[in-house]
Amino acid sequence: MDIPSNHSNHDALWLPFTANRQFRSTPRMLVSAHGMYYKDDRGHDVLDGCAGLWCVNAGHTRPRIVEAVQKTVATLDFAPAFQMGHPLAFEAADRVARLAPGNLNHVFFCNSGSEAGDSALKIALAYQRLRGEGTRTRLIGRERGYHGVGFGGISVGGISGNRKLYGTMLGGVDHLPHTLDLERNAFSRGQPEHGAELADALERIVTLHDASTIAAVIVEPMAGSTGVLPAPKGYLKRLRDICTKHGILLIFDEVITGFGRLGASFAAEKYGIVPDIMTVAKGITNGTVPMGANIVSDTVFDAFMQGPPEAIDLPHGYTYTAHPIACAAAIATLDTYAEEHLFERAAALTPYFEDAAHSLRGLPNVVDIRNEGLVAGIELAPRDAKTTRAYEIFDRAFHEGVLLRYTGDIVAVSPPLIVEKAEIDRIFETIGRLIRQVA
Ligand SMILES: Cc1ncc(COP(=O)(O)O)c(C=O)c1O
Repeated sequence: MDIPSNHSNHDALWLPFTANRQFRSTPRMLVSAHGMYYKDDRGHDVLDGCAGLWCVNAGHTRPRIVEAVQKTVATLDFAPAFQMGHPLAFEAADRVARLAPGNLNHVFFCNSGSEAGDSALKIALAYQRLRGEGTRTRLIGRERGYHGVGFGGISVGGISGNRKLYGTMLGGVDHLPHTLDLERNAFSRGQPEHGAELADALERIVTLHDASTIAAVIVEPMAGSTGVLPAPKGYLKRLRDICTKHGILLIFDEVITGFGRLGASFAAEKYGIVPDIMTVAKGITNGTVPMGANIVSDTVFDAFMQGPPEAIDLPHGYTYTAHPIACAAAIATLDTYAEEHLFERAAALTPYFEDAAHSLRGLPNVVDIRNEGLVAGIELAPRDAKTTRAYEIFDRAFHEGVLLRYTGDIVAVSPPLIVEKAEIDRIFETIGRLIRQVA
């Protein structure tokens, strides 16, 4: 047991999304990180197969980011963002907006993907009202969607385990069907062929509720947390067209897919579909400092700029909105991504990564392998036991020096974009060996 023993109360820390009592019996402790590796409390290297939590896209403790954070904390430790500005905030917003496609030119900062999700929903509702469409109060999410843990996010989210304990949540929410179709699409490489027509469910929702009641649709362009579900080919385009036709805002949750994960700045860029609002977090600061953002279109932004100039246009924000240290980290992160061409690197590595992932096909209980960019999900058959095979693989892999993610029966891989081919091999060899062990 390597939980610090000089602490008087070992029960003080309550870990999120964790079986806390199980964890205490077999703790997994990280004490430092560099490049592709963590070090655990036994001094062992742990290869980071999931970029921390889908966020450390440039690898760990990158000097440029560390220096920017150190310098800023010693120069401007905090600055309020309500009625105040500081240069790093404007620079960070400009840099993020430049990276975003189309007319997504305005950036509203927050501190996490969850806050970004809830902020996007509020902006969408306010936008509709400001343009005289105040009856548009419904929000549409998707089954298996993950938009963080705020009440807005879980309401439009579609992972039942994250919802069922929390009462009625937001009213007036409906959900599109999820896009997983093992019968037609199992072992797809990249975007699956079948399922574009699932976007037409939005037409049915419009028929049911009437477009005049619907403010926005929010989806992840590739559902991550639920177990890696790339959108079927043509699906996002159909969703975009239906939203445009009915005056519904389209929100892409790019908290995972942004900043190079799929081999482009954003999924929106990769697929050539521009939403009205994009939510981002995680890779925006390479995970070093909490930060999230909404990137909104000119049209959405302009709707807020019509009232008297002295009136507050968006009564929303956080104490730590555009925190100087987060802004400094974001700028240094975007510099690192650009200098090292990491998004292009991810795109170039994708075929190798894809082959490595699909080499696990045929192993016991492997029912599907899905991938897009530097993300892969390996789905295993369910079994009748207290823990899933995927959990056991995750736990054993950690003790063997490879950090993975798991959700239910799915093992997820999403390494930093600096990963080398030998490390890709090691990640998938480890998973393959453990799949046999837990069979
Ligand atoms: C798609 C998506 N949206 C939102 C979030 C929530 O982000 P955070 O945990 O920073 O609140 C996540 C986190 O994994 C995510 O994957």
